[in-house]
Amino acid sequence: MAFHTIIVPPDTEQINHAAALLSAGEVVGIPTETVYGLAADAYNPDAIKKIFLAKGRPQDNPLIVHIDSLDMLPELVLSIPDTAKRLAEKFWPGPLTMIFPKSERVPMETTGNLNTVAVRMPSHPIARQIIHACGFPLAAPSANLSGSPSPTTAEHVLNDMNGRIPLIINGGECEIGVESTVISVSEDRVRVLRPGGITVSMLRTCVENVEIDNGVLHMIANDVKVSSPGMKYKHYAPKAKVIILDGSRQAFADYVNNHSPSNVQDTYALLFDGEENLVSIPALSYGAVHDGLSQAHGLFASLRKLDELNAKLVYARCPEKDGVGLAVYNRLLRAAGFDVITLDKTNAPSENKKEE
Ligand code: TXA
Ligand code: MG
Repeated sequence: MAFHTIIVPPDTEQINHAAALLSAGEVVGIPTETVYGLAADAYNPDAIKKIFLAKGRPQDNPLIVHIDSLDMLPELVLSIPDTAKRLAEKFWPGPLTMIFPKSERVPMETTGNLNTVAVRMPSHPIARQIIHACGFPLAAPSANLSGSPSPTTAEHVLNDMNGRIPLIINGGECEIGVESTVISVSEDRVRVLRPGGITVSMLRTCVENVEIDNGVLHMIANDVKVSSPGMKYKHYAPKAKVIILDGSRQAFADYVNNHSPSNVQDTYALLFDGEENLVSIPALSYGAVHDGLSQAHGLFASLRKLDELNAKLVYARCPEKDGVGLAVYNRLLRAAGFDVITLDKTNAPSENKKEE
């Protein structure tokens, strides 16, 4: 399946072309407000298999199904808890994925053999137009090669998917930059399996009982059963070794300046805007300090940039671990293979964190 992959503008003609390809069981790269997705007909097992092939994704890691209206939900799921109805009313369309018991209609290929299905309604107008033009829900994981940072531009998708898919719809830079919040929902509680743009405190405005799964901030041993298969895999990993330095700006600068190996060319600091001059090695910013949204927007692009620069070792500034910062920290932790050095006690990584 060697394709000549092209990036096209999101005009009506190309959206209809994308829908025609998707209806014919092909895979298309599409923009969403979180990250770019690798979309295929959620009901077509052969199309779904092509997603796994293009990504090199483990077969047991389930996909998120994208809908453009609530009318598409009943066909996908067996039941909808009241809590989920309230959350959908408040946060859809938007970066919230909810897990439901799946209907017979959803093939096991889509859900990685689980009896549940993850569903979200994206807010990106182009994603919605494509789903609408298809008339069926689209399964779409992030459009990166399995293990690479998620793509936040059409060019990132091309870098990973060149020759593997026929078409990428260009929607510009993704607004949020990290993937959706994934939650499981029951009548009286919500459990966050992956933090994202919809934060814990936003969820708490709607549901009193919001828990954060242990896998969000902790490495899960291979033999432990996880609530969300994605937790097990090493994600978002740049080629460089990443070490998170958790502490103040000054402590970060002191550590980097005292610990940089002699081959400084290969060692980079990943820090916040305006901090570049504090360190004696090359540095790259991934967003504004104290601004989780800006850091979420910049993180994956920075990790990709470090690959382009052939970085071998990266010292990363630690984000704040609340609000959208929790999502940034969760992704950076995985990029670092959970390697965190605590520089001063006041900023120690919190254990068993339950609150934002
Ligand atoms: O923002 C997003 O969610 C992006 C855009 C494209 O919509 N998509 C995305 O998909 O991030 P993906 O496949 O890269 O991540 C899906 C995550 C994985 O961690 C997977 O394990 C989890 O959702 N997931 C999917 N279905 C699940 C299920 N039935 N039960 C538990 N976790 C599930
Ligand atoms: Mg992904």
